[in-house]
Amino acid sequence: MKAVAIVGTGLMGTDIAFTSASAGFEVLLYDMAKDRLTAALGRIRNRIDRYRDAGKIDKKSGEALMKRIIPCDSFDEVKSATIVLECVFEEIGSKREVFREMDRVCRADAVLGSNTSSISITEIASATNRPESVIGIHFMNPAHIMQLVEIIPGIATTRETVEVAKTFVKKLGKTHVESKDYPGFLLNRMLVPMINEAIYLLYEGSGTAESIDRVMKLGLNLPMGPLALADMIGLDVLVAVIEEMHRGYSDAKYRPCPMLKKYVAAGYLGKKSGRGFYIYND
Ligand SMILES: NC(=O)c1ccc[n+]([C@@H]2O[C@H](COP(=O)([O-])OP(=O)(O)OC[C@H]3O[C@@H](n4cnc5c(N)ncnc54)[C@H](O)[C@@H]3O)[C@@H](O)[C@H]2O)c1
Repeated sequence: MKAVAIVGTGLMGTDIAFTSASAGFEVLLYDMAKDRLTAALGRIRNRIDRYRDAGKIDKKSGEALMKRIIPCDSFDEVKSATIVLECVFEEIGSKREVFREMDRVCRADAVLGSNTSSISITEIASATNRPESVIGIHFMNPAHIMQLVEIIPGIATTRETVEVAKTFVKKLGKTHVESKDYPGFLLNRMLVPMINEAIYLLYEGSGTAESIDRVMKLGLNLPMGPLALADMIGLDVLVAVIEEMHRGYSDAKYRPCPMLKKYVAAGYLGKKSGRGFYIYND
């Protein structure tokens, strides 16, 4: 099978790498921070070991899966991939920098994807000389479990690029929905204002984190409440997404709750930092 490259090995990049390697793809993995790349390989190794111990995967398949994941020391090493997926910080400057690099090193026929939650694909694509090959491929968290992937063509994206992205998603055993290129696309346009409103309720003292989450879990049969979900997403990622939607629509309904900004300033980033709206000990 053809190679996929993942640029940015944080929460999402690591999980998408695992998902792609599980589906048989060779995965080239790059992060500008060497320790993040090493940590990503460690997390994938731990998951494979856990799956083996639980009898979900045999030893031979687990080792073969791990072998398909190839760490890269430099950006240039992603050049052989036919799909390159950017999973770096939710920040337009970082995204454009990565896409300029992709444009420089990637094969002419490569599809250049972004896992952005909210940023305009058209704006990202304009950092390259090949906007027709740029597309949003938005995985949900946790990527190895969630069924949906949003596919977002930018203004210049060709149908050929869309078809390559759809085929990739299908090969991962997932289902796509095609969304228009406006900030937040479909999923986050609905989800993020809901989470922000839950944070406002906490900020105003209308409920506790537990009661707000319980209302949504038991009242709507959701698997987790909005504040627990915010902690899982990462409060830094969430604030970046809301601010991007605020910038994109110039509409006060996307104003991030001051409490969310304060938590991020304090380093309370959710599960990944051990503290968000809840405290995590492992
Ligand atoms: N967290 C979620 O629940 C979630 C869900 C769907 C989509 N997303 C999107 O996925 C993307 C990544 O989010 P995340 O939560 O994995 O972030 P993260 O902070 O966990 O990881 C980002 C990684 O990108 C690396 N990076 C930053 N700039 C880079 C560059 N120029 N070159 C190479 N590596 C670079 C960082 O070192 C870091 O390891 C964002 O666009 C986010 O909006 C996140």
